[in-house]
Amino acid sequence: MAALTVRALGLEFRNPVVLASGPAGFGLELAAAFDLSRIGALTTKTVTLEPRRGNPQPRLVDAPCGVLNSIGLQNPGCDAFEVDLLPQIRAFPTRRIVSIAGRSPEEVAALASRLAGEQGVDVLEVNLSCPNVHGETVADNPETVRAFVRGARSASTRPILAKLPGEGKYLDLVEAALSAGADGVALINALRGMRIHTETGLPLLDRQVGGLCGPAIFPIALHRVFEARKAFPETVIVGTGGVSDLRGALEMLFAGADLIGFGFAVMADPTRVFRLAQELDEWLTKRGIADVDQLRGASHRGGIHVR
Ligand SMILES: Cc1cc2nc3c(=O)[nH]c(=O)nc-3n(C[C@H](O)[C@H](O)[C@H](O)COP(=O)(O)O)c2cc1C
Repeated sequence: MAALTVRALGLEFRNPVVLASGPAGFGLELAAAFDLSRIGALTTKTVTLEPRRGNPQPRLVDAPCGVLNSIGLQNPGCDAFEVDLLPQIRAFPTRRIVSIAGRSPEEVAALASRLAGEQGVDVLEVNLSCPNVHGETVADNPETVRAFVRGARSASTRPILAKLPGEGKYLDLVEAALSAGADGVALINALRGMRIHTETGLPLLDRQVGGLCGPAIFPIALHRVFEARKAFPETVIVGTGGVSDLRGALEMLFAGADLIGFGFAVMADPTRVFRLAQELDEWLTKRGIADVDQLRGASHRGGIHVR
């Protein structure tokens, strides 16, 4: 057996498999059907201070090799999260990354402060990249990223991940997040895209734009992670975007991800995601590689040498 443990953010993760924010909801349905001790961490759906109803239907539209989502941060709000959901999430036999978002740095600080004393919140992930919220855009400039991350940092001593877009000058955004006190980044969120109804000529989604996720975005996400690792050799990176199988997971590790986020894949075939750590173990063992750590960033150091 190979060692799959990942040490990052001052914590140990059992393996690098992380359920990305959104498709897993708050993990309650998955916890009933799967053994959560087979994954490294679960990221909750993004929580906001007030409850949000999200966008009108349709919220999911088919796309070649993926889906366009326009959920719009639907969630029950922080009160209900703390009272109804967190007691159950706390009992999950895996690391818990709680995703938060706000309309202002003050709102993010308020959320981080509310969750600061809660057991069962291992990491805070500040969502700075939802493409689906009315009146708020993807944080596409370093000043905005810096202000929001500072808000969270000022209110919490928990490890903080900044969830950033894979569009625009993303390396500047990574730099801004880290300089403002983030302990790492989750790259990437869904990429903005659209589809149009061929009978009406009108956009299929109410807000016209949605977030493209799934295998369609994998090569883009992989490139962003590769570039981020090259520019920031020491930071923690959760490589997310279109990973659906062992091959994708390996490529993410080679590119430099510490942990690998699975979003669309959880909707498409959760059984496969829950098998992944075992498949990774078998792959490593077959090649005589003792520790998954040996793969991380290998593309930057001349690759790996396998038997
Ligand atoms: C239905 C759905 C809901 C999502 N909700 C959130 C969310 O609440 N917060 C967030 O940070 N990302 C959210 N995402 C984005 C994913 O976490 C992930 O970054 C993105 O989908 C790319 O990864 P994937 O191709 O593996 O899905 C959502 C994605 C989907 C498909």
